[in-house]
Amino acid sequence: MKVLVVGSGGREHALCWAIGASSQCEALYCAPGNAGIAELATCVPIAAEDAEGIVAFCRDRGIDFVVVGPEGPLVAGLVDRLEEVGIAAFGPTAAAAALEGSKGFMKDLCAKYGIPTAAYGRFRDATAAKDFIRAKGAPIVVKADGLAAGKGVIIARSVDEALAAVDHIMGDRAFGAAGNEVVVEEFLEGEEASFFALVDGKTALPMAAAQDHKAVGDGDTGPNTGGMGAYSPAPVVTDAIQREVMERIIIPTVRGMAAEGCPFKGVLFAGLMITSDGPKLLEYNTRFGDPECQVLMVRLKSDILPVLLAARDGELAHVDLRWYDNAALVVVMAARGYPGDYRKGTVISHLERAAETGEVIVFHAGTARDEGGRLIATGGRVLGVTATGRTVADAQRKAYAAVDAIDWPDGFCRRDIGWRAVGR
Ligand code: AMP
Ligand code: GLY
Repeated sequence: MKVLVVGSGGREHALCWAIGASSQCEALYCAPGNAGIAELATCVPIAAEDAEGIVAFCRDRGIDFVVVGPEGPLVAGLVDRLEEVGIAAFGPTAAAAALEGSKGFMKDLCAKYGIPTAAYGRFRDATAAKDFIRAKGAPIVVKADGLAAGKGVIIARSVDEALAAVDHIMGDRAFGAAGNEVVVEEFLEGEEASFFALVDGKTALPMAAAQDHKAVGDGDTGPNTGGMGAYSPAPVVTDAIQREVMERIIIPTVRGMAAEGCPFKGVLFAGLMITSDGPKLLEYNTRFGDPECQVLMVRLKSDILPVLLAARDGELAHVDLRWYDNAALVVVMAARGYPGDYRKGTVISHLERAAETGEVIVFHAGTARDEGGRLIATGGRVLGVTATGRTVADAQRKAYAAVDAIDWPDGFCRRDIGWRAVGR
């Protein structure tokens, strides 16, 4: 098969790495890709958001299957557009991607189908949102309804902070049209986990759980980022919790989406809070997590390409997913200053030394080559140094040894990725 992966981050590098290893993959392309992906696939300079450019490329090259990585193109309807012209694509339609694209839609689905999640209200009017906040008290969580690159969630410790959050989202329009509506919800306490299931419209196949580290600083301090590191498996998601998540959250969602006339196909990524009252859904994403995908791909034993195709074809009931028992851990190296302002174009060297240490893969996120062929940083999150090991602690040791072999004076990373699992 000729396969096109859409996106340019560490997630897409990991997907290309796994898909390129498939016996069924005859040619692999990535739009637009990055310097690491270019070592495995033919990168084509088409933006992930350029649906018409992608359709034209697929027709021209006779692409058989498209795998869409990021949420933006999914919510904008790239899968609908491809399927409309007869090109098979992995991922949800725009209607199904509303599970990520509209927090209000997701919460209403949970309410209708009895899926455990925080109590909430949806508001298009700032005054009504503020009355609700005053009635409920703090702590309380205020969220922009639409896509906001992970920044649209404000955890308010006081009523005043929550009221200011409403003004920030609806008045200042800090997230543009994503803030036309807000969801105000109950603050949940517990330990977070990311849970992934593959879905084909009717059948859901559990993948694995992972734990991300959203805060930029050691000890989970500082502002939130896209994710500074992850590991899998996540000990907090025991077999019993996995069963409960499937039965009470994932399966009712899949049935509910089908009943609503927008069957879900693709990866259902549940952001969970494991509370004293059991797992509750914080949010849905309708794609692989980044950097969670990196650890899932190195743990996956099954050939991924036929599995993704089965999800698209509605045939997951016949699929048996296999995993290595090993743990995996990824440390994200980011440009100094991220998630605030950072410099672009700084030079990274000695990557080959990192991979030399064994059981390590460096997935690229924001990288390119300059005219001289040197590797340069082009984004905030730049590298995902990924290691496997018998335990999370073992993988952690190998990942940091590899990080230390890389020469990038303008980069930094958290030094405590995996602390919860290692401490257990
Ligand atoms: P999101 O970007 O939607 O994943 O949300 C960012 C983070 O906000 C989550 O990873 C949680 O740590 C936190 N969060 C979201 N909703 C709640 C909630 N209802 N209670 C407590 N924390 C929350
Ligand atoms: N790592 C969290 C996300 O991909 O949304």
